[in-house]
Amino acid sequence: MTAVSALPAVLAGPDRLDRSLRDVRISVTDRCNFRCPYCMPKARFGPGHRFLPRAEALDAREIIRLAGVFASLGATKIRLTGGEPLLRTDLVAIVEGIARLGVPDIALTTNGALLRRWAGRLRDAGLHRVTVSLDSLDPAVFSAMSDSRIGLSEVLDGIAAARDAGLEPIKLNCVVQRGVNEDGLLDLVGFARREGLRLRCIEYMDVGATNGWRLADVVSGEEILERVGRVYPLLEESSAPTAVARTYRFADGAGDLGVITSVSHPFCGDCTRARLSVDGKLYTCLFATSGIDLREPLRSGADDDTLRRIVADRWKRRDDRYSELRGLGIAQGDRIEMSYIGG
Ligand code: GTP
Ligand code: 5AD
Ligand code: SF4
Ligand code: SF4
Repeated sequence: MTAVSALPAVLAGPDRLDRSLRDVRISVTDRCNFRCPYCMPKARFGPGHRFLPRAEALDAREIIRLAGVFASLGATKIRLTGGEPLLRTDLVAIVEGIARLGVPDIALTTNGALLRRWAGRLRDAGLHRVTVSLDSLDPAVFSAMSDSRIGLSEVLDGIAAARDAGLEPIKLNCVVQRGVNEDGLLDLVGFARREGLRLRCIEYMDVGATNGWRLADVVSGEEILERVGRVYPLLEESSAPTAVARTYRFADGAGDLGVITSVSHPFCGDCTRARLSVDGKLYTCLFATSGIDLREPLRSGADDDTLRRIVADRWKRRDDRYSELRGLGIAQGDRIEMSYIGG
C-alpha cells in the first residue's frame, strides 16, 4: 500500500457545482446496539430485520484500500461511522491501516456505549478524535431516544474514557426533536460547557424512509441559538466554510456551540463529502437514492489507478444538493437508510 505523501497529486473534481472531494464518511456496519427512533426505529429494525451478511460488507483490508484511494484523490478527513462502528471487532485494525496512510484527520462517530472498552486502543491505533451522539441527560428521555437496555451512565463513562485517552476535541451530537428532548437542551449545554465538550445541535432530518419525519418535529437552529443565547450569551459565528456545523462562541469564553441546519439553512453549496456504504458503494449525497459499486472492481482485482478513475469520474458528474432542493419543495423518494450509507 502506498502512503498518501508518496502519491502524485491526482485530485478528484471539482464536481459540476465546483466542489472538490475532501471528506469521506465510511459506514463500517449497518448494525447498532441502539434503536434511536429517528434513525433505526424498532418497528422497522426489529428482530425480523435482515442486516447485511458479513460477506457482503467490506473487510478491514478493503476499507483501508479504498480509504487510500480517496486520500490520494484529495480527501484529508476520514470519518468512521455506521450504524455503531464499535460493534466491529476489527475497528482497531481499520484505524491502524488508515493512520498508516497518513490521513491528517481521522474521526469516529459513535453512540459511546462501548467507548470505555475501546478508547485507549483506538488512540494507540492512530484515531485522532471522536464525536459522541448524546440527545439527553435525563435518563428517561435518553432511554426513549436510544430505545435499548444500555443506560446513560455507560455513554457518560465512554466520554470520560475518550478524554482520558486524549481523543480530543470531543464533540457531542444532539438531534433536537420538538416535544421530545427540547426541554433538556440547556442541561446538555451546561454539561458540555463544564466538561469542555463541543456540543452541536442537529436539526432533525428526513433521512431514510422509516423515521416518519415531519417538518413540525424540527426545532430550527435559529430557535436553538435563541433559547441557548438567552441563558448563555453567544458571539458571532466562527466556522470554516466547508464545515457542516455553524459554530458560535460563548461570550464568557466557556467553549462553543454548533448548530447543524440541514433543514432550515442547507449547506450543499460547500459540500465536499463522499460516503462509502457498508458494502462498498460510493454515494455522493446523504440523501442519494443510488450509489456506484466499488466492491466488485475491488474484488475482481482492479488496481488503485482504476479505482481512482472510477471515483474521480463519478465525482466529476456529481450535482447533488438534496437539502437545497427539499427547501424548494423538490424532494426525491426511496432514500437509503442512514445506518447503511453512513450518517
Ligand atoms: P466534524 O468533522 O467534526 O466537523 O464532523 P461532522 O459534523 O462532519 O460529522 P458528524 O458525524 O458529527 O455529523 C453531524 C451531523 O451532520 C449528522 O447528523 C450528520 O448526518 C450530519 N451531516 C454530516 N454531513 C452531512 C451532509 O453532507 N449533509 C447533511 N445534510 N447532513 C450531514
Ligand atoms: N436527523 C439528524 N441527525 C441524525 N442522526 C441520525 N439520524 C438523524 C436524523 N434523522 C445523527 C446521529 C449521529 C449522526 C451521525 O447523525 O445522532 O450523531
Ligand atoms: Fe445507532 Fe447512531 Fe442510528 Fe442511534 S443514530 S440508531 S446510535 S446509528
Ligand atoms: Fe451534501 Fe447532500 Fe448533505 Fe447537500 S444534502 S450537504 S449535497 S450530503
